[in-house]
Amino acid sequence: MAQIFDRSSNALARASLVLTGLIVIALGVTLDQLQGSPWVTKQGQRAEQPVPFSHKHHVMGLGLQCQYCHTSVEKSSYAGIPPTKTCMNCHAQIWTNAALLQPVRTSWATGDSIPWIKIHDLPDFVYFNHEIHVNKGIGCSSCHGRVDMMPLMYQQNTLQMEWCLNCHRDPGKNLRPTSEIYNMAWDGPSRDKPVWCGSTGLKDGVPTAQTVSCTTVDPSQAGAQVASLNMLPDGVHAQATSDAPAMAIPATLQYVKYTDQESLGKYLTQQYHIRTPQELSSCETCHR
Ligand code: HEC
Ligand code: HEC
Ligand code: HEC
Ligand code: HEC
Ligand code: HEC
Repeated sequence: MAQIFDRSSNALARASLVLTGLIVIALGVTLDQLQGSPWVTKQGQRAEQPVPFSHKHHVMGLGLQCQYCHTSVEKSSYAGIPPTKTCMNCHAQIWTNAALLQPVRTSWATGDSIPWIKIHDLPDFVYFNHEIHVNKGIGCSSCHGRVDMMPLMYQQNTLQMEWCLNCHRDPGKNLRPTSEIYNMAWDGPSRDKPVWCGSTGLKDGVPTAQTVSCTTVDPSQAGAQVASLNMLPDGVHAQATSDAPAMAIPATLQYVKYTDQESLGKYLTQQYHIRTPQELSSCETCHR
């Protein structure tokens, strides 16, 4: 049989095999990159919303808090999108003739909700829950970015499995005091901006972070300042701490000063009873 094909065709066959192999590899690499590309993950894309709602104007400009509109974020798996009524609290009085707001007025008149396009949308086979993340010290900005600077909403992160796991394998690097959850500008403690934390330890074992009290004002500098935390003129802090009566700090607490994320993360991991990275990365955590 060997005579039918001469030596040169043998070389040709080998060359074409190698070529096919290369093409397959190249395709694989391209697909892999595509998988993570913003085009597939929707990262950064602005949707054509019925109303060009600006988080920048309403959060940074007007100082509204996230929970004013996303009311269920601390107590359910969904953060929720506000009903038209929430907009009408103000827009029944201001910008009442603006064409931009016509869909809001129509929705109010007809009772049909505004057809907002979903920006973040995990597949149905993934379990996600806002409540646990928020109550265990993961801030909105850790997952959604600087929402207070977004004229139009977009998805900051990939929301792919690898992104979730990257945090679940080492949650400590992202844990913050629960009083800073809504602080969009939070970037962890530093020498210039230390954080003091203490625990009452009263409700030990309860899976909330409520027994931990943290402050960005030196507690040894005494009562008056700490007591007025909620009234700081600085907009970001007012946002971060209001709705947090826990900031009225018991005088008996023993505070420890933290000047870096690593040590704060270790402390909070323990205090918040965060599960081990192994447990948090096991398939059943997110695929039930
Ligand atoms: C005045 C009401 C209001 C406030 C305050 C507000 N939001 Fe929103 N938010 C909305 C509306 C309306 C939408 C839906 C339209 C859109 O996507 O822009 C939305 C959408 C979002 C989405 C995307 C939802 C999706 O479709 O995936 C995120 C994330 C979000 N908001 C986070 C925040 C955070 C974080 C804060 C606080 C810093 C905040 N919002 C404050 C009204 C508000
Ligand atoms: C607390 C009052 C308040 C609430 C609640 C509120 N708005 Fe506004 N909104 C304002 C004010 C004030 C302006 C004018 C802002 C400016 O020009 O700086 C405004 C402006 C706007 C504009 C014009 C474009 C812009 O951002 O400047 C749109 C569109 C808008 N709002 C949509 C909404 C929608 C949709 C909701 C409900 C999800 C809503 N607003 C809830 C007070 C509010
Ligand atoms: C651990 C990451 C993470 C944190 C922290 C987080 N989110 Fe989300 N958020 C998500 C993911 C993932 C989705 C998409 C959920 C889905 O598709 O089921 C989402 C969706 C949303 C939505 C769309 C509506 C909904 O409920 O699905 C809003 C609004 C929102 N987040 C607001 C917030 C606010 C406000 C905070 C802070 C109080 C916050 N998120 C904290 C990851 C996070
Ligand atoms: C920035 C850090 C961070 C990111 C990003 C993150 N998580 Fe988490 N996740 C946590 C922490 C912290 C906990 C709480 C762990 C504990 O209490 O033991 C948690 C807990 C969970 C739980 C357990 C809920 C329960 O009730 O048992 C699920 C499910 C979960 N995350 C899903 C996800 C998914 C899905 C994503 C990606 C879309 C994601 N997480 C992204 C930090 C994160
Ligand atoms: C922290 C949460 C989390 C854990 C833990 C997790 N996954 Fe996922 N997984 C996700 C998310 C989120 C997606 C959706 C990714 C997307 O939409 O691109 C996903 C998607 C998948 C898919 C669909 C294919 C793909 O890659 O998009 C498979 C298969 C899968 N996971 C298997 C597993 C297995 C097996 C484990 C255990 C070794 C595991 N997952 C653990 C969050 C998780």
